Order: sequence, then structure tokens, then C-alpha cells
Amino acid sequence: MAVRPILTWPDPRLSARCDPVGGADVSVLAADLLDTMYAAPGRGLAAPQIGVLMRVFVMDVTWKDGTPAPRVVIDPQIVWRSDETVVGPEGCLSIPGVLADVRRARDIRLAWTDLAGRRVEETLTGFAAICAQHEYDHLDGLVTFDRLPPDQRGALMAAYQDRLPS
Ligand code: NI
Repeated sequence: MAVRPILTWPDPRLSARCDPVGGADVSVLAADLLDTMYAAPGRGLAAPQIGVLMRVFVMDVTWKDGTPAPRVVIDPQIVWRSDETVVGPEGCLSIPGVLADVRRARDIRLAWTDLAGRRVEETLTGFAAICAQHEYDHLDGLVTFDRLPPDQRGALMAAYQDRLPS
């Protein structure tokens, strides 16, 4: 398995809507995503971030605390969102150096296919809920910038683009 290069925004592949996996074998992709996420180091990574436009992401919200719990999430659906929302700073491995204050549902119920092909469903709370919504957005071609009010979006994007090599 391999650590793959992570695309940085505004690479157009980060704005693409990804295709469903269906029954395809994504075990190598999943292993590469996990290797790349841990190496970054990060707690979530979506397939389009390594240039694969399929609806797959990985997350592990506890490994940095010493308790690895990798999840491979294939063809996810957010089947419920809490009315209650929270706003918190989010980084993204594809937008290095930027923290964006994004409003998200506090809790969600997520359904997905696991690597064994089983459809599973779980209620996510706290950081796991935020991380899953962030990674899910990548599958629809959305990054944190796209979740900001226009004034905040403009200022943050300008600051980020000023630092890009031209
Ligand atoms: Ni991200």
C-alpha cells in the first residue's frame, strides 16, 4: 500500500461530484487513503483528495489520542441531521494552513458500506459527526470555503491564494 500525494485546492478534482462505488473492489484505495491520512497526519481523508473520484472516505478520530479506530466509508448517506448546529474551526489537508469556521449539524446518522460489503448505520456525535460531514462534502465537490458566508469566504480564500506559489 502507499502514501499518495494529496491534491491541494483549487485543483478541479476537488470540485467534482464523485461517482458511487457500487460493488467495485476499493480495498487498495482504502488502504492507500488510510496510509496517506496517517502520514499527513490527519483524521479524515476523501478519495478525491488523492485524485480518485469515487464516493469513499476514511476517518479515524481517535488515533491521535493513542486509540486507533479506522473507518472505511463507502457510498455514504447522511440519513438524519440534528436540528442543533455547531460552529467550529476546521482544517483540511487540501487547504493547508487554513482554519475555517464552518457551521454543521451537531449530530448525524450515517449509513455506509464497509469493506466487507455490509451496509452499516451509526449515529455520530462530537468530532466524529463534524469529520464525517467534512469528508462527505468532499464527495460532492465541496470544501470548507463552500460552507462559509460570502464575506468570510472571500477573505479566507484571498489569504490562502496569496500564499500559493504562482
Ligand atoms: Ni478536507
